[in-house]
Amino acid sequence: MSTAPQTSIRSGKGPGEAVGIALLGFGTVGAEVFRLLNENADAFAHRIGGPAEVRGVAVHNKNKLRPGVPAELLTDDAEALVRRDDIDLVVEVIGGIDYPRHLLLTALNAGKSVVTANKALVAAHADELAESADRAGVDLYFEAAVAAAIPVVGMLRRSLAGDQIRRISGIVNGTTNFILDAMETTGASYEDALAEATRLGYAEADPTADVEGHDAASKAAILASLGFYTRVTFDDVHCEGISQITADDIKAANKAGYSIKLLAICEVLIDESGKKSVNARVHPTLVPKDHPLASVSKSYNAIFVEAEAAGSLMFYGNGAGGNPTASAVLGDVVGASRNIVHGGRAPGENTYAHLPIADFGEVLTCYHIDMEVADRAGVLAAISEVFAQRGVSLRTVRQENGNGTARLIVVTHSAREAALEEIVAKLGDLDEVKAVHSVIRLHS
Ligand code: NDP
Ligand code: HSE
Repeated sequence: MSTAPQTSIRSGKGPGEAVGIALLGFGTVGAEVFRLLNENADAFAHRIGGPAEVRGVAVHNKNKLRPGVPAELLTDDAEALVRRDDIDLVVEVIGGIDYPRHLLLTALNAGKSVVTANKALVAAHADELAESADRAGVDLYFEAAVAAAIPVVGMLRRSLAGDQIRRISGIVNGTTNFILDAMETTGASYEDALAEATRLGYAEADPTADVEGHDAASKAAILASLGFYTRVTFDDVHCEGISQITADDIKAANKAGYSIKLLAICEVLIDESGKKSVNARVHPTLVPKDHPLASVSKSYNAIFVEAEAAGSLMFYGNGAGGNPTASAVLGDVVGASRNIVHGGRAPGENTYAHLPIADFGEVLTCYHIDMEVADRAGVLAAISEVFAQRGVSLRTVRQENGNGTARLIVVTHSAREAALEEIVAKLGDLDEVKAVHSVIRLHS
């Protein structure tokens, strides 16, 4: 495991020398990266200190029409392109894990710097990629992998490197925010909103990654690794998506003064003995309407960082789509190209803290439980007993009368996740409880 950035000084090609770029992928993101690099070629040359030249574009289907791309640049053999001697920098915007992993390890081991927007790959294989980059003394950049245009990776790597971060939380998936927002504000169906997010280029090639929370979990793993100097991988993140959220849940939440958002939460936990551990999780969350996260609409993302000295910081902006993502990729292209021309390296991965991953059952959360109960004497007492036996206190209890049954909405105070899960299972077994309609965690 990489514990400290390698510090050997790399010499540069020299001012005025061109940087040869291999662009892997020419889809939603790749096409914008190519267009902006060409349109602003002079500005890039000034900012880098030498021209940035795309010398090859790897795609799946070479015969697809790609206006503005010289035919001689196109190839369907990405590996051969990566290995070429005139390539200094590899920009990966293909997606997936195994194939790009192979390509990027090939590039790094051959001494080429890498820029990638691929969160799934970084969240699964950061150690291996970082070690290869360290060994070769080249750069590995992935700003676009988290929250597209919002420069949160650079902010954690550089600007907040002098602080102690306690918590990073927020909305990091544009597709699911677009869907939940459309369902709440326009009454759109889940399916229509997902189709529109896909049409707009926000969704992953397989949108299951978005709606099941996997994309946000990859981003949470990256944020927690950077913020807490501890390797957190995709498998370490507790992950629940939005596919179980119904129009009824959204209506009920709205009526009670909440919006439902898919939140990623990364925090350092400290137990009674002072022992620290890290938790990263992704799940639908009820956010009070007057909280800033509730007003994050469409495909926008917003990230809160709580740091010891800096206090609370909030970052907001475009979290998905070709153009915003290309902005982040190109920022990295400039950073990596400057080092190729002038020498030196960007800060590497650093996981010196090696904090253990917390058991999710130990995490403190609040539950909002919406259930159908028998409308008779003693029901409230039976239900309260289930909570009391597990030491969980209730924040609010609201009852709406139905026809022979009553709807009971219980909000708990903060309690151990394991105790809350046990309570929900127990409630389901009680005669008094006819159905548990929904269990959604509350923002705290
Ligand atoms: P797209 O599906 O739009 O584009 C993928 C590109 O990769 C296509 O050009 C495709 O070729 C090419 N490709 C597929 N297989 C191969 C292969 N075997 N060899 C060479 N090229 C191949 O994806 P996006 O542009 O949306 O996303 C790319 C990456 O960026 C992903 O990792 C994604 O997670 C990440 N990202 C995306 C964001 C977004 O908003 N879209 C935001 C942030 C990150 P062809 O054109 O021939 O089909
Ligand atoms: N599918 C991702 C999202 C793209 O919707 O947020 C940006 O990473």
